[in-house]
Amino acid sequence: MPYKLGEVLIPREKIAERVKALAGEISRNAERDKPLVIVGILTGAAFFLTDLVRELPEDLDVRVDFMSVASYGDGTKTSGVVRIFHDLKTNIEGKNVIVVEDIVDSGLTLSHLLGLLKGRNPSSLKVCVLLDKKERRKTEVKVDYCGFSIEDKFVVGYGLDCAGMWRHLKDIKYVIED
Ligand code: IMP
Repeated sequence: MPYKLGEVLIPREKIAERVKALAGEISRNAERDKPLVIVGILTGAAFFLTDLVRELPEDLDVRVDFMSVASYGDGTKTSGVVRIFHDLKTNIEGKNVIVVEDIVDSGLTLSHLLGLLKGRNPSSLKVCVLLDKKERRKTEVKVDYCGFSIEDKFVVGYGLDCAGMWRHLKDIKYVIED
């Protein structure tokens, strides 16, 4: 295997603390009389999303749905053109929507996806990401809720993978080339 696990970047306790704080922010900003649709982008964001929604209060009308997308590219670079493998079951027209993603890198995937969801006329469309690699951005994406800003190094764990591996780790760790 050409990759090895490196040091811990963000330990599980810090993740849990930040997830709680993000849920608090989301809850404070949420309209009480309208459903809030939380859209998770499979597969990476599923881990973050399930922890996040369980920190939201009972008086919020929270709905959860998932999309599975892949961006066309040459294997190493994303083109930003998104192909939908699994679409939402929920009609988001007139609803408040928060898209939950594991990490924003170039921003191309998310920006294309947001364009697509905007076309379905939600009442509002916000973005919540666990990790943000700001310096890698190629297109502007407005991130409304951000867990951690990180430097441009490849990380895995808590949903994030490297060639399909290490999603199940409780901590977020660096990957090093062997
Ligand atoms: P982009 O913002 O369109 O460049 O693509 C973001 C996607 O790249 C994420 O959803 C991840 O699948 C992947 N990605 C970027 N950086 C990392 C990383 O450090 N670890 C794991 N996946 C990453």
